Amino acid sequence: MSHWSEATQERAREIIARYPQKRSAVMPLLYLAMAEEGYLTNEGMEEVARWVDITPAQVQAVATFYTMYKRRPTGRYLVSCCTSISCMLLGGDDVLHAVEDESGVPHGETGADGLLSVEHVECIGACGGAPAVQVNYELIEGVTPDKARDLVRWLDTARPDVVNTDEMQELFGGVRSFDWAIREGEGAKGPYPAFQALGTVGREGET
Ligand code: FES
Repeated sequence: MSHWSEATQERAREIIARYPQKRSAVMPLLYLAMAEEGYLTNEGMEEVARWVDITPAQVQAVATFYTMYKRRPTGRYLVSCCTSISCMLLGGDDVLHAVEDESGVPHGETGADGLLSVEHVECIGACGGAPAVQVNYELIEGVTPDKARDLVRWLDTARPDVVNTDEMQELFGGVRSFDWAIREGEGAKGPYPAFQALGTVGREGET
């Protein structure tokens, strides 16, 4: 008996069907568990274990290895600022400090109102567009401290249902390394950080 919503269960079935072996779906299903409850609970990991026929300990071993699986409640918008070498050389630390200062949320924390979580992250593969920032894993390249402050204010006032890399790049980014090819109208859809590439994004017609 699943505790997940019917929509999440349907998505889980679709994802599992992509793989020759169920267990290969463990990572995308962990994102589903995270999107369902806002973070990865023990119950969520047990649910994933049942879906892919491995033990909860095996699921936990995967979940605890990767920082993108959040084990604590996360804000509606997760702002991840890269501070690895390319971004650091081009002002990534200043961008992070601008986000912290404007939001009042130190990295590694979530604001009391639950709107924003801030973290600094290691290289997110966008060195060509450094300094890079992600909101709910949607990328913005060439961010300046001033633009980072604008981004925080925008999240606070606009509170978009969907954050989309193209829109945020236009509003808050600088030079982009290449076209990330997110289709128009797509993006990471909350209420919690969700990862577009792995199927946690709502589709047309879904709320
Ligand atoms: S160092 Fe920041 S994206 Fe690679």
